[in-house]
Amino acid sequence: MQSTLAAATAVLRPMVEAAFSSYVDEAVAAYARDKVAAGQWAEDAALANAGLEFLELLPQGLATPDNFLFEIVGQDGATAVGVLWVATQERAGRLAAYVYDLAVHPAHQRQGHASRALTSLEAKVRAAGLAGIGLHVFGHNRGAQALYARLGYLPININMFKTVAR
Ligand SMILES: CC(C)(COP(=O)(O)OP(=O)(O)OC[C@H]1O[C@@H](n2cnc3c(N)ncnc32)[C@H](O)[C@@H]1OP(=O)(O)O)[C@@H](O)C(=O)NCCC(=O)NCCS
Repeated sequence: MQSTLAAATAVLRPMVEAAFSSYVDEAVAAYARDKVAAGQWAEDAALANAGLEFLELLPQGLATPDNFLFEIVGQDGATAVGVLWVATQERAGRLAAYVYDLAVHPAHQRQGHASRALTSLEAKVRAAGLAGIGLHVFGHNRGAQALYARLGYLPININMFKTVAR
């Protein structure tokens, strides 16, 4: 099954090698922090674990099949204000998009850039005939949850945990 998610749009500019290595460094650190905040990984192992997961998911970097990394382009048509990493995956016998990462640089947040990026992705997904867009969000990330809810995403799995005192 082929998809055409790779094409550039006014909002989504395919990432180039020069941006990729600094992206990975930042994304690995952010993912490690989230896993620690979620209580899933110990702090001393988190960075190494996160690095391994990225390597498994993107073994060929930007050239990894079925994975598409973009910079989110600001309203000026040039400034990179964030990143979107999406892959295509089979879901219930149909091809769907899965967002592995969406991040807007702190200085550019709350200006609609994540919404623009997801709206642009949605148009690509529709044009490619994919079933929809999946993603994971941490329970502590209320801001991202608000964003997705506002754009019509619904929860399909909820993991819960209660700390029990010794
Ligand atoms: C989550 C994130 C991508 C949102 O990007 P953004 O460009 O600021 O989002 P938008 O401006 O498109 O926000 C649209 C709406 O989503 C909701 N929203 C976004 N960020 C929010 C926050 N921090 N707190 C509460 N609501 C938030 C609001 O309803 C917002 O509309 P409003 O600004 O008119 O109130 C950005 O905060 C980010 O990069 N965070 C760190 C990385 C991250 O958590 N990524 C998501 C992984 S699942």
